[in-house]
Amino acid sequence: MRKKPLGSRALRYANWRTARTNLVRRCSSRFEKPPAAWNAPAPLALTKLPVAIYHQPIMRFLSLRRSARWSSFFSFAMIAALSAVAQVAPRPNAQLASKEVNARVDALLKQMTLDEKIGQLVQVSAGFATGPGASNLRYDELAAGGQVGSYLNVTGAEATNHYQHLAVEKTRLHIPILFGQDVIHGHRTTFPVPLALAASFDPSAVETVARFGATEARADGIAWVFSPMVDIARDPRWGRIVESAGEDPYLGSVLARAWVKGYQQGVLSKPDSAAVSVKHFAAYGAVIAGRDYNAVDMSEITLRQVYLEPYRAAVEAGAATLMSSFNSINGVPASANPFTLTQILRHEWGFDGFVVSDWGAVSELRNHAIGVDGAGAARKALEAGVDMDMEGGLFGSELAAQVRSGKIPESVVDEAVRRILRVKFALGLFDHPYTPLSPVYDATPERRAAARKVAEETFVLLKNDPVAGVGPLLPLTANGKKVALIGPLADSQTEMLGAWAVTGDPRFAVTLKTALSARLGDRLLYARGCGLFSGEDAGALEQASFTDQPVAGSAATNHDDQKTIAEAVDTARKADVVVLALGESASWMEGEAASRAYLGFTGAQQQLLEAVVATGKPVILVVLAGRPLELKWAAAHVPAILEAWSPGIEAGPALARVLFGDVNPSGKLPSSLPRAVGQEPLYYAEQPVGRPARGDLSHPPRDAAERFMSRYMDEQNSALFPFGWGLSYTRFSYAPPTISQAYVSLRDVLASHQPVATVGVDVKNSGSVAGTEVVQLYIFNTGVSVAQPVRELKGFARVALAPGETRHVEFPLGFDELSFYNLEIKRTVEPTRYKIWVGGSSLATAETSLTVTP
Ligand code: NOJ
Repeated sequence: MRKKPLGSRALRYANWRTARTNLVRRCSSRFEKPPAAWNAPAPLALTKLPVAIYHQPIMRFLSLRRSARWSSFFSFAMIAALSAVAQVAPRPNAQLASKEVNARVDALLKQMTLDEKIGQLVQVSAGFATGPGASNLRYDELAAGGQVGSYLNVTGAEATNHYQHLAVEKTRLHIPILFGQDVIHGHRTTFPVPLALAASFDPSAVETVARFGATEARADGIAWVFSPMVDIARDPRWGRIVESAGEDPYLGSVLARAWVKGYQQGVLSKPDSAAVSVKHFAAYGAVIAGRDYNAVDMSEITLRQVYLEPYRAAVEAGAATLMSSFNSINGVPASANPFTLTQILRHEWGFDGFVVSDWGAVSELRNHAIGVDGAGAARKALEAGVDMDMEGGLFGSELAAQVRSGKIPESVVDEAVRRILRVKFALGLFDHPYTPLSPVYDATPERRAAARKVAEETFVLLKNDPVAGVGPLLPLTANGKKVALIGPLADSQTEMLGAWAVTGDPRFAVTLKTALSARLGDRLLYARGCGLFSGEDAGALEQASFTDQPVAGSAATNHDDQKTIAEAVDTARKADVVVLALGESASWMEGEAASRAYLGFTGAQQQLLEAVVATGKPVILVVLAGRPLELKWAAAHVPAILEAWSPGIEAGPALARVLFGDVNPSGKLPSSLPRAVGQEPLYYAEQPVGRPARGDLSHPPRDAAERFMSRYMDEQNSALFPFGWGLSYTRFSYAPPTISQAYVSLRDVLASHQPVATVGVDVKNSGSVAGTEVVQLYIFNTGVSVAQPVRELKGFARVALAPGETRHVEFPLGFDELSFYNLEIKRTVEPTRYKIWVGGSSLATAETSLTVTP
């Protein structure tokens, strides 16, 4: 018999009930800690449902149906307990949950007409376009008519105030507009790209960037930043890896919290706080084959344990809004996905903010082949949990009629409006809707100092082998020596800003050439060498820049590579040492819609590299790129390589200080660098397999024993440079790690979030210069019911050490570090043995262990 489709209220009830059922099932052990989902209240519309309906799953689990009297007793007791927890449980964002904010929201909502409500759910780009098919509407009329809740891409106090006056003064209920924009790595002051920031392993650096971003955005009338991007990215073919924190959920979660703290400061109503939009929910970073906008397909365990973790961390840190992503997850589009948007986000995590769709993601539901037209797309998205439609137009055009015809209950619209108004009230927009005019932005010494300091922490010294008769090339001691600076990225201001520097101004960027010539004067020789693209590609790509605007001063093109490579070789011959600045174009090849099938240097850069190396001059390679590039040839032929990403406005000075040793490099890779693109997705936290690869994989298998293992015929399995890798101008040595308790009981681990054991290690700077080490702790949980990755990062600390200094570093281990998802999708710990390593990268060998006893 065909089941009758569920109505929306019933559907929401069913979702909620499933969540509760799973919850109860998950809490089967008496040692199990109450998960956050215990606290999930029923959707508002459901609280009046008869108890008899929703106590059933609980009773089924308890198998206490023997007597109706006992059944009622236990079920009521259980429900009473659940409600008690629900009442006292803190919501992640206290302001959004506060009585005061919600009372103001409810009072306003009561006065709103359906059209006014729907207006709040609409977001339109009233400035530059950051996606395809931007609307071209009468923005004044929309604002004055209460037909928009938010504008994106309007920048500046004057421009935002203009629309705000219309909204506040011309509409019946005076509801302010919320202005949002992409503020990805700074707003006016451009800092290094997020992947670079992750390489610092420094949450305080991320906080600094977020503080600058929020303050400068607020000065421009923008109270809502579309950041942080917390998608786990394990495939550098995906151009958006540049916006991410790389491959690791632990690092990603620590940094996600830092972003939220930096932007929101725990209090949205501060005049220099901005509401975040954590994106892109969910699992957008796992698009198949690294092709942007592609589908995502993964197990629920992987989804929760790897991909959802940073979003959860951000929500727990109080994130005010989330952005739903373009991709589908296991067949269901993320922007119409009740499982992620409602069950997990609302019911399990207690999220009180609102969800905005990504640009056009609601209208694109029609392309996902789930059988919806415009009306169906709008309905599905709204009912799944999308509250605001970004630049798609369907909420504005398709919802009202469906509410009037009874197809969508008005309560669903009310709930979305409520969530949006909460954020507007919490931000203080009703009380202070306008932005005071401020002086024209300038990259002041204070801003530059902050940008430089952060950039210096992000560079990763991949390699610094001694050169015969010279020693290590870095740090540079250029006493009287001539330095040849060569490469298309040596003197491009635009490219130093990196991808998604939306409001960044290239004129503020200082290039490596400018910074080195300030130090070296006429001992610096320079040649561009080649362009970033060759031949016809150059012209074509110039037209296809992200915003359709030609990018001034880009280094992308060059029309006679052979001639300029020959000039570069001549320049190299005249110098004592060569610094090569190579990479890819941030303006054309990184970020959204910038997937690559090859990961080498673009254009003729590889040819330039080989020609310069062939001169026999010692070469230092500075890689400027927003993704891990394939550096196999370079690693085999170039003695010193510095991974510098896209460093922002202080690129040149920060690089010069590190190259000359004023600052010791301390960055570590947040993403594994491959030997070959065919290894992707490549990440250190891989699953164990039945036929693990052993021995020397640097040649093809020579017998059956070497063949039947999980390996490539033509390449090694390992990364060229692994996650966590990064050298220094000094050396760090590790004493064997110790553990405070080698055995802990399962009961103790499950009892609370407190640490049950502490790993301690002495780290020594055994070199002759001061340096900072990122000490990293990895675990491998063995003997477990669901196989866990062979290594997982579970702690790190940046430790500054004077020469000869030793520091004792401790890492707490408790439920948060030791737990995993079992087959019942329950986060838990089992009586198992954990191997533990501490060291300076994911290759750490200093080992201890912890056993959890039954
Ligand atoms: C699309 C991008 O995916 C998202 O990251 C961005 O915030 C929006 N466009 C708005 O520009």
